[in-house]
Amino acid sequence: MMRNLGVAAAAAAAAFAPPAFSQTTGSETVVVTADRMLDVQSGRLLDQPVVVITDGRIASVATGNARPLIPAGATRIDLPGKTIVPGLIDMHVHLTSNPKYGGYTGLQFTDSFWVAQAAGNSARTLRAGFTTVRNVGSDNYADVGLKQAIEEGWIEGPRIVPAAYALGATGGHCDETFLPPSFQRVSPAMGDSPEELKKRVREQRKYGAEVIKVCATGGVFSRNTEPGIQQLHEEELKAVADEAHFWKLKTAAHAHGAEGIKAAIRAGIDTIEHVSFIDDEGIRLARERGTWLGFDVYNTEYTLAEGKANGVLPENIEKERRVGTLQRENFGRAAKAGARMIFSTDAGIYPHGDNARQFAVMVRFGMTPLDAIRTATWNAAQALGREADVGAIAVGRFGDLVAVDGDPTRDVTLLERPAAVVKGGKLVTGRQGG
Ligand code: ARG
Repeated sequence: MMRNLGVAAAAAAAAFAPPAFSQTTGSETVVVTADRMLDVQSGRLLDQPVVVITDGRIASVATGNARPLIPAGATRIDLPGKTIVPGLIDMHVHLTSNPKYGGYTGLQFTDSFWVAQAAGNSARTLRAGFTTVRNVGSDNYADVGLKQAIEEGWIEGPRIVPAAYALGATGGHCDETFLPPSFQRVSPAMGDSPEELKKRVREQRKYGAEVIKVCATGGVFSRNTEPGIQQLHEEELKAVADEAHFWKLKTAAHAHGAEGIKAAIRAGIDTIEHVSFIDDEGIRLARERGTWLGFDVYNTEYTLAEGKANGVLPENIEKERRVGTLQRENFGRAAKAGARMIFSTDAGIYPHGDNARQFAVMVRFGMTPLDAIRTATWNAAQALGREADVGAIAVGRFGDLVAVDGDPTRDVTLLERPAAVVKGGKLVTGRQGG
């Protein structure tokens, strides 16, 4: 297995001095070996990778005939026959949502139910190879709490970049749109002027949001909203973007309709999600501004097949029909035009853990497997502003990687069945030694 590691461990321990990390006593070193490694930046498959992970971060990467120095006492994760890729990143999930409870069926549960079941969703997401997710909207700061529980080691899950509540217009897609007025249920993150929205940004950040999500248009799964229709003025979107950027936070906009998409791009929002009805001008604007586009092109089939049985209302299924087909065509157009793309699936609308099924749909609608993998690794890391932490198997990044049984740049569906998942140098799931 360790064919090219002809190094005496004791000598190696003495010589081992990775640049950015000091070898303190009690530090933990893990060595991962495999047959091949996908370098997502160059797009090349490199042979015989040896990845040394010290205290959760990658200390060195050697490939081919290089003979890396292995510190004494290192834990080994040998993955013969496997190809390793960087831990995957889904830029649009809702870990507290569950597709089993559509429409009004969710009202039977108490508020904390959603957090309790989210623990299982988090574990499934991580075991599917998604070592980082951006949670773009949850009630009660549940995504902040989940992140804290994962970091404290109480539950298993990915690294989370939480948005907490999604901002939006009163009565818009991200408000509470399912209840009659006498229930007086209003989302606490609605704002109807630039000033109000600015305050909402500060409130979300205060309680743990690391990205600001705003709903720029109507949507599929709300009541009495139209996906194609804009719901915040451009100056309101600009207030959100400017205030978030002032606090060094990135922004994400839910936007289906062409005008709302363009307003959000011009306002300076960093990632546009759904993007269903984007027109040529929108694609051109996104390319000019370097705005990232995230098309959630997997979930349509799930909603159309399972939605009704799960309580999704006819109104919402009808909207899904209108959005799904055009969204996929426009995804293909944007990809062909060279727009910058991220991997955004809206997990929670379909079952958590099936995230990687979107790769095949992206390839079906015109993207190469390599570019599809990039959307969930290097592109996503850049869009998060965390390329120093995630998105590549490279020195300094977290030791997050996924092993698959063949070449995912030929068969992207291999990512649906990871042979092993490593997060921070710890084997989460998988078989060692083949
Ligand atoms: N959260 C989005 C909405 O309600 C989901 C859209 C899902 N459908 C789709 N074709 N992408 O608008």
